[in-house]
Amino acid sequence: MTNLVLNAEDAMPHWGKLSISTAEVTDWTRIEIQDTGIGIPDNVPDRIFEPFFTIKGYEGNGLGLSIVRRIVQKHGGNIRIESRPGQGSTFILLLP
Ligand SMILES: Nc1ncnc2c1ncn2[C@@H]1O[C@H](COP(=O)(O)OP(=O)(O)OP(=O)(O)O)[C@@H](O)[C@H]1O
Ligand SMILES: [Mg+2]
Repeated sequence: MTNLVLNAEDAMPHWGKLSISTAEVTDWTRIEIQDTGIGIPDNVPDRIFEPFFTIKGYEGNGLGLSIVRRIVQKHGGNIRIESRPGQGSTFILLLP
């Protein structure tokens, strides 16, 4: 959660809105972390979870999301992104 919130903050350097919501969907818990930040370029989403992938230059290590995905997967869950450049991003986690 910390990694996702810090990423959202980085994506909104001047202003923005961070929303965190949870819901129960049958046997799953759905957690959504949504920001109104810079969004993620169209060609990136598959690689974004790879270790050391960053588009923050020297500001980022590119490790946060790879750790997030590993933790989610170890719990038997999954994570996906809905994002449009310039229109913010939503990280959607499903946990059993
Ligand atoms: N909410 C977001 N909005 C826009 N881009 C994002 C968002 N979350 C992640 N990204 C992009 O995904 C890349 C990878 O994120 P990740 O958290 O793995 O690494 P990082 O934030 O660059 O470095 P670290 O988390 O290790 O400090 C980031 O560099 C950033 O470009
Ligand atoms: Mg990060």
